[in-house]
Amino acid sequence: MPARALPGFRDFYPDDTALRNHIFAVWRTVASRYGFEEYDGPPLEPLELYTQKSGPEIVGQLYHFRDRGDREVALRPEMTPTLARMVAARARALKKPIRWFSLPQLFRYERQQRGRLREHFQLNLDVIGEPGPLADAEVIAAAIDVARLLGLGPQDVRARVSDRQVLRALLLGAGVAEPSLGAAFAAIDKIEREPRDRLLTWLTEDGKLPAGVAQRALAVGDVKGLPAVQDAARKVPGGPAVVEPLVECVGALEAMGLSAFVDVDLCIVRGLAYYSGIVFELFDAQRNLRAICGGGRYDGLLAALGGADLPAVGFGMGDVVLGELLKARAVAPGAAGSLDAFLVAVTAEDTPAVLQLAHALRDRGGRVEFSLKEQSIAKQLKLASARGARFAVIIGPEERQRGGAVVRDLRRGEERAVSAAELAGDAVLGGR
Ligand code: HAM
Repeated sequence: MPARALPGFRDFYPDDTALRNHIFAVWRTVASRYGFEEYDGPPLEPLELYTQKSGPEIVGQLYHFRDRGDREVALRPEMTPTLARMVAARARALKKPIRWFSLPQLFRYERQQRGRLREHFQLNLDVIGEPGPLADAEVIAAAIDVARLLGLGPQDVRARVSDRQVLRALLLGAGVAEPSLGAAFAAIDKIEREPRDRLLTWLTEDGKLPAGVAQRALAVGDVKGLPAVQDAARKVPGGPAVVEPLVECVGALEAMGLSAFVDVDLCIVRGLAYYSGIVFELFDAQRNLRAICGGGRYDGLLAALGGADLPAVGFGMGDVVLGELLKARAVAPGAAGSLDAFLVAVTAEDTPAVLQLAHALRDRGGRVEFSLKEQSIAKQLKLASARGARFAVIIGPEERQRGGAVVRDLRRGEERAVSAAELAGDAVLGGR
């Protein structure tokens, strides 16, 4: 038997599962506060769903194989193509704008590094059918609200927002020819991860860009803050109109009271091929970790998959970096197991009474455990403490005779005799 899980795959022990459930609960709460409905799709998809549209970065990381029916299939590396297909298939019937979310587990054969595994869970939250920038603001606000509800503030998390249309206009203005835009985007995307001279060398190789243009192209990625972006846009053809959605989106986030979380930053490009407008990522404020969340507008994707021509905007937020950040900021929940009561049988003859009471308390919603074998009282009480039980409820021959129990408050160390009526009432479950 192999001793470990595959590299990049996680075993979820109860503590890990408690953290995962906590994150999932917050994801679902925020999605429902924003009026989003949950959907899901298959974890295994036709390979071509990704080779067509996701872009080379994700395609290079696919888990894919030929199935027994000779089909080329892949484990889903992202949710957006599945969502696009599902919406396209029922586009006419669905009331627009569509507001859907999902919590898929995704698979990418990545080089293992901190914050990047080969499987992760990802909140996907998307608005489909609305071209206006209020939709972009709405999904960015939802991403920020996930962080807020998890107990993270602007000193912990930043949303960095950019716009590919603005980048395009500024790059054309800097002298980048249309066919070289892709290369310029790719270089700006790497500004924070690669030394500048290496990016310049790459941009000028094979006649991609003249040296002066390459310099100016990279300088576009250095523009930070909305006023500076507006200033730069004023100087290029069509710039003032192109920058308008970004201005409106940032203005809406300000009206929502979230501007403390928002930085406009043109070095955000996003790796995926299908983004067409505003793009954004959430990072830890200290920038020690990988991105927590990434998303943006992808107006052409549904039409490209052969469906209805609907505009769309959304994001994916992973559980891996988010979990690391919660642990680092000590806002992760503790272990899940905390019992209301651990029932203790003094003798073997007391076990039926313990079982009866356990069942009665569980029927009322109580979290109750008892020893599954005959054990000394001391051992049973030790297990009760280890389980984090609030009360030990001790039943011996004497208690059975009067139809009650001894209830020991394990936090306070106090103990008292209670009647059957009190047990059926609030003696154990009253403080919940
Ligand atoms: P993405 O940037 O590839 O976007 O992934 C979004 C987030 O998922 C990342 O910011 C990160 O938190 C998490 N993530 C991605 N890969 C890994 C990994 N190997 N290990 C751990 N976490 C990871 C998308 O997937 C887009 N489909 C999102 C989207 C939805 N855009 C519009 N709608």
